[in-house]
Amino acid sequence: MEGWPEVLDTLRERGLDLSAYKEPQLERRLLSFIQREGFMSLEPFLDAVKDNRDLFRRLYSYLTIHVTEFFRDPPYWEAFRAAMAARPPGLISIWSAGCSWGAEPVTAAVILEELGRSFEVLATDSDEMVLDEARGGRFAAVDVDKVPARYRHYFHPEGPDHLRLVLQRGRITYLRHDLVVEPPPGRFDVVICRNLIIYFRPLVRQKVLERLAGAVKPTGLLFLGATETFLEYAQLGFVAASPALFYKERDP
Ligand SMILES: C[S@@+](CC[C@H](N)C(=O)[O-])C[C@H]1O[C@@H](n2cnc3c(N)ncnc32)[C@H](O)[C@@H]1O
Repeated sequence: MEGWPEVLDTLRERGLDLSAYKEPQLERRLLSFIQREGFMSLEPFLDAVKDNRDLFRRLYSYLTIHVTEFFRDPPYWEAFRAAMAARPPGLISIWSAGCSWGAEPVTAAVILEELGRSFEVLATDSDEMVLDEARGGRFAAVDVDKVPARYRHYFHPEGPDHLRLVLQRGRITYLRHDLVVEPPPGRFDVVICRNLIIYFRPLVRQKVLERLAGAVKPTGLLFLGATETFLEYAQLGFVAASPALFYKERDP
């Protein structure tokens, strides 16, 4: 797009720093958002973003892409389940980074419930809008359809089209956290970050990956997305446990 650097500068002045994200996709999404909101050109849109907080929030939400689902890429969750079953007794702490409206932390939680394990999940995202939705703990029946039958009883019907998650052995806490600018919110037995770092520019991706790796305790696991590469794993003290799942032997 002609004038793209200026657009990024203007959005940054308005409080939206998108410099971490890969450009072509961001550009496509920005143009489609502008059209969707009924603007005929960029300038009136940039003016409107300045004064209209709702438009600003919708823009941020649209650009950050919230696609997610329960048990996304099922075989990877089977491998995760096997890794959790093999862990020594005791509480398991999990950080789900870039959790969107909650499908990923909930998937981890119901697996641990079913294994009879105690757990604490800290689920974070940079977008308050999706976190508000996640905190409700209430999910559309069409989404819960993706949950395998053995875990369905953790979802109790609530009205005709929704179900509520009911956990007994642990809890999920949702917190706003930006992976690009903030240090990790602690150290965990398991760090899950799937389908997010693919959107970052290479240098940002590298920095974020190092932060995520640093947040895993020795003997813990890092669980990435199905399409993400982690060629640096050995340098950072990990061994590959199965595709997308890395076991931390030691701190580097
Ligand atoms: C495509 S979704 C992936 C959701 C889930 N992890 C999954 O794999 O199904 C990416 C999520 O990352 C969040 N996100 C984008 N940039 C972020 C950042 N800098 N820090 C934390 N979360 C971010 C988005 O708001 C979005 O909810």
